[in-house]
Amino acid sequence: MRALDLCILKLFLLTLLAASYDFQETDANSTETCSSACLHEMKPLFKSTRETSEQLKAYETSMLEKEKKIGKIQKQLNAIQVQQSKTKDDLMKEFSKAQAEDKKSIESMKAQLDANTETLKVILNEIASLNSSISDSCYKELAKDQAINCMPFEDSCDVHDIFISGYGNISVRCNADIAGSGWLVVQRRFSGKVDFYRNWTEYKQGFGDLNDEFFIGLEALHHLTKSLPYELYVMLVDFNDNVRHARYDNFLIGSEQEKYMLKSLGTYTGNAGESLSYNLHDSFTTYDRDNDRWPQGNCAVYYLSGWWYNLYGNSNLNGRYFNERVNSEQGIWWYDWQGYYSLKAVQMMIRPKYTSI
Ligand SMILES: *[C@@H]1O[C@H](CO)[C@@H](O)[C@H](O)[C@H]1NC(C)=O
Ligand SMILES: *[C@@H]1O[C@H](CO)[C@@H](O)[C@H](O)[C@H]1NC(C)=O
Ligand SMILES: *[C@@H]1O[C@H](CO)[C@@H](O)[C@H](O)[C@H]1NC(C)=O
Ligand SMILES: *[C@@H]1O[C@H](CO)[C@@H](O)[C@H](O)[C@H]1NC(C)=O
Repeated sequence: MRALDLCILKLFLLTLLAASYDFQETDANSTETCSSACLHEMKPLFKSTRETSEQLKAYETSMLEKEKKIGKIQKQLNAIQVQQSKTKDDLMKEFSKAQAEDKKSIESMKAQLDANTETLKVILNEIASLNSSISDSCYKELAKDQAINCMPFEDSCDVHDIFISGYGNISVRCNADIAGSGWLVVQRRFSGKVDFYRNWTEYKQGFGDLNDEFFIGLEALHHLTKSLPYELYVMLVDFNDNVRHARYDNFLIGSEQEKYMLKSLGTYTGNAGESLSYNLHDSFTTYDRDNDRWPQGNCAVYYLSGWWYNLYGNSNLNGRYFNERVNSEQGIWWYDWQGYYSLKAVQMMIRPKYTSI
């Protein structure tokens, strides 16, 4: 075993020696010049050593090449890494730049928002202080200034200016001492001082004295009752000072084209009797404008009035004023209460059906 080991060691040393030689040059001569038996015997060995050496050299070369390649690759890798880190750095830089910009714009937006909120607060404060300086009574005054009926005047029984949509400004008398507050008087009789036997134009425009007897006018009545659902309240007083009333919950008067027709009355309540519903859907008639259904004559002329008539009337609140209880179709009467007996005082008033409007 030792001999073999030694031989392998020798072989190894030889291989090393051979490897350091340039066999390509000295190959032929070294074999030729080597004449000893030993060398002769060693010749095949040399050959194999040479081959081995060639192989080694080839390995070495390939190793070198590989190393070179590896080196190259390494370089490339490094380059790539550098590139990468560069790119990464750039990206990071871009990112943080963008972030900073975003942050900046967000901050400026926030600042703007804060400023707006501050402005809003200031405005709200101003509104609140303004509003608190406007007292409830001020609000009520404002409502009265823009009144479209007697509702804002509440408990007043005075004359007030209101605005009727489609009609214009008008002075009206309000009432609050007969059937609650906020009523608007459209007709009243109690003195006999005003003549109610009038023509179409006068009934259209209204007449009389707001401090005495008057009729508001059919045009105003049409626009008033058209603007909102209205109630009608009819107060009747006889010459014994008995007071009765008739109330209709949906009073509507048509336009002049509709001859100021009694278009709607709604539901009746009261204690005077339902004398107006007979003339529901009848047109208004005056002595100079016969719109009734009496072919032979004019009801307004017959009853000395201006009113809603069919073949005949069932009430005549615009009739002639008598100073005493008289049984006359020309007087002021409400058939379902006292037939044709004339009444001492009557008053027609309207108020919005929905008083919260
Ligand atoms: C080998 O030796 C011979 C004779 O000495 C010589 O002529 C020849 O050139 C040599 N060959 C080499 C390769 O050196
Ligand atoms: C103003 O004050 C009235 C009460 O006086 C209140 O009802 C109303 O909501 C207030 N309006 C505002 C905008 O503050
Ligand atoms: C009604 O009266 C008000 C207040 O006096 C006024 O501002 C308005 O111009 C008048 N409108 C008409 C149509 O006359
Ligand atoms: C209506 O009566 C008034 C007052 O008497 C008068 O001035 C007017 O001319 C009359 N209108 C018509 C159309 O008769």
